Amino acid sequence: MPTFNVNTVDWDELYNGTASYAPGNPGWNIGQLQPELAALERQGRFRSPILDSGCGVGATTLALAEKGYEAVGLDISGSAIEQAIKAAAERNLDVTFTTADLATTTGYDDHFHTVVDGLVFHCLPENLRDGYVASCARALRSGGRFFALVFSADAFPPNADFGPRPFSEAQLREIVGRHLVVDEVRPARAWVNVPAALPDGFEYRNVTIGSDGRAQLPSFLVSAHKA
Ligand SMILES: C[S@@+](CC[C@H](N)C(=O)[O-])C[C@H]1O[C@@H](n2cnc3c(N)ncnc32)[C@H](O)[C@@H]1O
Repeated sequence: MPTFNVNTVDWDELYNGTASYAPGNPGWNIGQLQPELAALERQGRFRSPILDSGCGVGATTLALAEKGYEAVGLDISGSAIEQAIKAAAERNLDVTFTTADLATTTGYDDHFHTVVDGLVFHCLPENLRDGYVASCARALRSGGRFFALVFSADAFPPNADFGPRPFSEAQLREIVGRHLVVDEVRPARAWVNVPAALPDGFEYRNVTIGSDGRAQLPSFLVSAHKA
């Protein structure tokens, strides 16, 4: 049975709702800031200009723009970027959405004060992870901050060879620490819509269902900065 595999995933197919293994609206499309990112924003941890790295349909970029931040959303999926541009126009928000392969470059060197990654890093194939963190680091100004919400190994069955790739704190510190100064990696929760079905052999572990009906999955919040 075809399923989500980070090595072969077709993001346009997922965003068009035509992936046979995940029809309809992708589970991560919660239409609002991830609560962990919203909490960072309330604490004053974000500073413009902000890159929403792997922005998808732009919920994070748009929420930040609505709060007055200068925000740019980049994503490899043309379909997601089209939907994001449409949503920005409908909400009359002045934001930039562009397609980019962030495993190579963002196209913005030494530009952003903040880079936010909401559930992107764990979707990358192993051979792209280093290039992705390197390009996020290049996009930051000196002293700029990187925040990433990443599924933890507690979220899924051990040794599942499909689905997003969950991480341990040590792995995240090692990979991110090659290009940025890691300030903190702490337990966090990622909100996703509960799918009608999960593929055979796959399940959520240690999940909480919130009063909004969404699944809150064990994750890490990585905070780092550019020296
Ligand atoms: C799970 S989705 C999260 C989307 C968005 N951050 C959110 O919270 O709704 C992961 C996103 O990473 C994007 N992505 C995957 N590989 C990428 C790459 N190499 N460059 C840019 N975006 C990428 C996908 O297209 C997808 O939109």
